[in-house]
Amino acid sequence: TLTQAEKAAVVTIWAKVATQADAIGAESLERLFCSYPATKTYFPHFDLSQGSAQLRGHGSKVMNAIGEAVKHIGDIRGALAKLSELHAYILRVDPVNFKLLSHCILCSVAAHYPTDFTPEVHAAWDKFLSSVSSVLTEKYR
Ligand code: HEM
Repeated sequence: TLTQAEKAAVVTIWAKVATQADAIGAESLERLFCSYPATKTYFPHFDLSQGSAQLRGHGSKVMNAIGEAVKHIGDIRGALAKLSELHAYILRVDPVNFKLLSHCILCSVAAHYPTDFTPEVHAAWDKFLSSVSSVLTEKYR
């Protein structure tokens, strides 16, 4: 679980990320598909070319869900319950992929806000994304 200071750091950086959430979401997916091409197999029905409408639309949905988790940072499990069922029971995304996407989101945030991305913010945001991933993968088995 995140400490009070870590929660505060996540909320603070999110206030900035939220203003460019769509761009950061699309960039995170572009980084994911570019660096880890095997992840594209989950999206055979998508046009994954850079800047495609589907890529941007999906990036926006992902960042929206992250925003919900920030808003309910004391109850991420409750905030993402439905998404957790979707990823586990219907999409069956292999949990390793959550680490890859989290890494790509981390890189996008760092690239957009280099001066805000201090080691403390980096650590807090990484821990937060790992909590989100745990919630989204905990229904698997
Ligand atoms: C769908 C969030 C990780 C694959 C979705 C949706 C959201 C979401 C909000 C849309 C749900 C809806 O339409 O009701 C997230 C978050 C993640 C995450 C917050 C982790 C931070 C992943 C990973 C993969 C993945 C790692 C696979 C590499 C998919 C697929 C869909 C989906 C295939 C359905 C797309 C469609 O057909 O529209 N996700 N996701 N997700 N997600 Fe994730």
